[in-house]
Amino acid sequence: MAHSDICILGTGAHVPAKVLTNHELARMVDTTDEWIVTRTGIRERHLAGKNEPTSMMAAAAARAALADAGVTAEQVDLIILATLTPDQPMPATACLVQHLLGVPARAACFDLNAACSGFLYALDTAWAMLASGRYRHALVIGAEKLSSIVDWTDRSTCVLFGDGAGAAVLGPARGTARLLGTRLYAEGAHAHLLCVPRGPKPVIQMKGREVFKNAVRQMEDAVREILEQHGLTAAQISSVIPHQANLRIIESLAQYLGLPIERFIVNLDRYGNTSAASIPLALDEARRSGRVRAGDTTLLVAFGAGLTYGAALVRW
Ligand code: UT7
Repeated sequence: MAHSDICILGTGAHVPAKVLTNHELARMVDTTDEWIVTRTGIRERHLAGKNEPTSMMAAAAARAALADAGVTAEQVDLIILATLTPDQPMPATACLVQHLLGVPARAACFDLNAACSGFLYALDTAWAMLASGRYRHALVIGAEKLSSIVDWTDRSTCVLFGDGAGAAVLGPARGTARLLGTRLYAEGAHAHLLCVPRGPKPVIQMKGREVFKNAVRQMEDAVREILEQHGLTAAQISSVIPHQANLRIIESLAQYLGLPIERFIVNLDRYGNTSAASIPLALDEARRSGRVRAGDTTLLVAFGAGLTYGAALVRW
């Protein structure tokens, strides 16, 4: 299968039922709804319960994506799960998802950790594996239970994150939703800015301001490079699906690219930052709400711990 024959055949999403609002958070740590909304744009996030591991959310999103694509579990021969919160260090959570879905044993299943850029890394990997001709239908999933690694006493981080999952089915072309290209990067020199150090209870530690500055620069660089590679200008981009970390980061990116903020798909007000799940959650919402139409060119752009970053282009 040529790269140009590979399409997004369907998408799906799943978030746990429990919602934690800013007002509820303000009773847990020294913060306010007003601070969180003005500094981040986040109003609430979904939290998975004790019996809702990443695998379960991933499988629910994957089932929705398969139904949307009209592809059966039997047809899937590749599962790539982007996550930094696997159910356990081994086996790979992708294998647990395979079992939950009933995907046959001839499928390759593995996890991939590129933090918040994970979905774009997984998309690029699946695209290359399908283009090799050795796989035909891939499930690309981003799923996170970040609530399990949040320090709920640290107001500078606990207000930011949420749980959820999003998925896409990739397979042979049916004419639309073609992947045009991807571009991935990593700057390991900045690894210390956002990490989960080992310890008795590993939790997210972040130098927020530095991550913010790098995020805007890196995403702008990734966008300019991918547009140049494809001979496109920013004005030709119909919609942008950015990693949902902070509305101010998205607004700065829009400003630097000279694009109206209305072209950006934003849902972080309801989900917070769900790391690898953030782009596929927004992608599914954009498709189902009619924000993307046939012929549109959509730009996906992410940044995250690593520091990893990247971009992808889809022609609907
Ligand atoms: O997927 C990638 C994940 N990471 C990110 O995308 C994060 C990128 N960074 C950010 O989004 C922002 O840096 C934050 C939202 C994390 C913080 O916003 P900021 O405007 O950079 O605030 P700051 O860290 O400079 O803190 C400003 C003040 C500080 O008080 P002082 O020192 O000025 O007295 C903080 O202690 O705000 C205080 N603060 C809070 N106040 C109320 C920090 N967190 C809170 C809070 N509620 N939750």
